[in-house]
Amino acid sequence: MKRLTLVCLSLIATVACAQKVPALYQDADLKLGAKLIENNQCDACHIRNVGGNGHSIYRPAGRVNSLSLLRGQVEACNTTLNLALFPDEVTSIAAVLNQDHYHFE
Ligand code: HEC
Repeated sequence: MKRLTLVCLSLIATVACAQKVPALYQDADLKLGAKLIENNQCDACHIRNVGGNGHSIYRPAGRVNSLSLLRGQVEACNTTLNLALFPDEVTSIAAVLNQDHYHFE
């Protein structure tokens, strides 16, 4: 019983944290961002580079070490890959990557 309570509490904490969007990304649409990541083959190409599920390409302790650099990196990919994403779409993608991988504040 006690253990179940603990599990529930940590679940609630996870959900609450997951929904936190930093001020810089306040216009982000997380659902849209996730969809864009899927539609633009982000993972497919990263998998070719690093294997696994491609997620190890995201290195929070590396060169990309702040919210604005993260958004800048996504913008750079947008330009290099000719994805023609709108600014709010770039922000939404960055917000999803931050929520799932970087956890910058
Ligand atoms: C054609 C291949 C390719 C595609 C498609 C691609 N990427 Fe990348 N991406 C790379 C490579 C290669 C690197 C590593 C570059 C480096 O380390 O200098 C990278 C690195 C990154 C990084 C930096 C990781 C870090 O922490 O240093 C981010 C963020 C990123 N990509 C986001 C995206 C997003 C978002 C998309 C889809 C919109 C995308 N990429 C699509 C090849 C790709």
